[in-house]
Amino acid sequence: MSYELVRGMNDLLPEEIAWWRCVEDAIRDVARRYNYREIRFPIVEYTELFTRGIGEATEVVTKQMFTFPDQKARSLTLRPEGTASVARAYLSHGFQTSAPFQKWLYLGPMFRYEKPQKGRYRQFHQYGIEAIGSLDPSLDVEVIAFAWTLMSELGLGGLSLRLNSIGCERDREAYRRVLRDYFADAIGSMCADCQRRYEDNPLRILDCKQPTCQSVIAAAPGPMEHLCADCAAHFSEVRNQLDRLGLAYEITPHLVRGLDYYTRTVFELLSADLGAQDSLLGGGRYDGLIETLGGPATPGVGFAGGTERLVLVLQERGGALEEDRVDLFLASVGDEGRRRVLDLAERLRRAGCSVEIDHRGRGLRKQLAMANQLGARYLLVVGDDELRASRASLKAMDTGEDENIALTAEAVVQRIQGA
Ligand code: HAM
Repeated sequence: MSYELVRGMNDLLPEEIAWWRCVEDAIRDVARRYNYREIRFPIVEYTELFTRGIGEATEVVTKQMFTFPDQKARSLTLRPEGTASVARAYLSHGFQTSAPFQKWLYLGPMFRYEKPQKGRYRQFHQYGIEAIGSLDPSLDVEVIAFAWTLMSELGLGGLSLRLNSIGCERDREAYRRVLRDYFADAIGSMCADCQRRYEDNPLRILDCKQPTCQSVIAAAPGPMEHLCADCAAHFSEVRNQLDRLGLAYEITPHLVRGLDYYTRTVFELLSADLGAQDSLLGGGRYDGLIETLGGPATPGVGFAGGTERLVLVLQERGGALEEDRVDLFLASVGDEGRRRVLDLAERLRRAGCSVEIDHRGRGLRKQLAMANQLGARYLLVVGDDELRASRASLKAMDTGEDENIALTAEAVVQRIQGA
């Protein structure tokens, strides 16, 4: 019997982890500078959190959730995204009364039952930020600026920021009516999903990817024409501030995002390197979500991006990352050499050096080949001569230079760490 990977789920092998760490380090560093603090929440939540929070009529809830009963027949779901869980955690810990303004960062696996393809998986990873507790347009702009800063520091070009406002709940109600009127004549010839969306939430029709539905959708009115005075003023201020920061955007009237909690500002960042369909990241405001989940009216804004997609774009853009290299390979000859090397390796590791030794009884020639393969920065061989003299030559592998040093952990550390 052979075991296969579950479809749409990936192993991340050590070779790839350098890219992941590079991306995650950059995210954490940007978060530090914008003062977003990391939070970790469970991978599993009660299903109702997502059906309520994300919306019964969304693709994520109707088609993509991994849902299963626990031993007591309660319905659990593997988290398909982080925003609903963040809102739940905010309420679970009473932040609405103790410290209502919070800025959080999260990183971790999410699960959606989608058709796997490049950049789209069933277990994927998101990095995301959520800023809860203020309606101020400066917070929308901060969240967008965070995304731009991250991408520009990772050296990504060919980016476009799509921006729209879908208004408050009342504006959306009005807009849904406008869409129902607009699609009324054509809906009979549209796909079955659109026909269902027409009844449940006609906004979702705008997310349809079916080629046959596109011509009708292309001419549909946008939500911006139906914003109330407050939402229009909010959006105009978001745009002014983005302009002032020199952050370029395209107003995209049909951008409504696939999750029902959004209000007002919505945005997506696309990369030319990823293909037109897929966004690098997406987000927006969700001023009604916390109230929907039983809390007080509390606004929020945030975004999340797929880590796999970011890594893909960086890898495709080329350039190699500094490989993980060990500082030192300690080769040995004979039993006494081997014992000495074990002892020395242990001391050096405690002093902060990365050290590899042979564990398979290999001869010197093979040990030297291992040192090369590992990209060791230094090589030191301990055999009878070295033991007798209590000195050994430390070879800098990049330059080939040898230096004769005392055979002590202190001397080795000094050379390696001083270099
Ligand atoms: P979303 O647009 O559903 O938004 O997902 C955000 C990002 O996650 C996408 O832009 C994409 O990069 C990545 N992503 C989504 N599905 C997959 C998949 N199957 N495979 C690989 N990557 C994927 C949200 O999840 C919202 N919670 C974002 C947000 C935060 N809005 C406000 N705050």
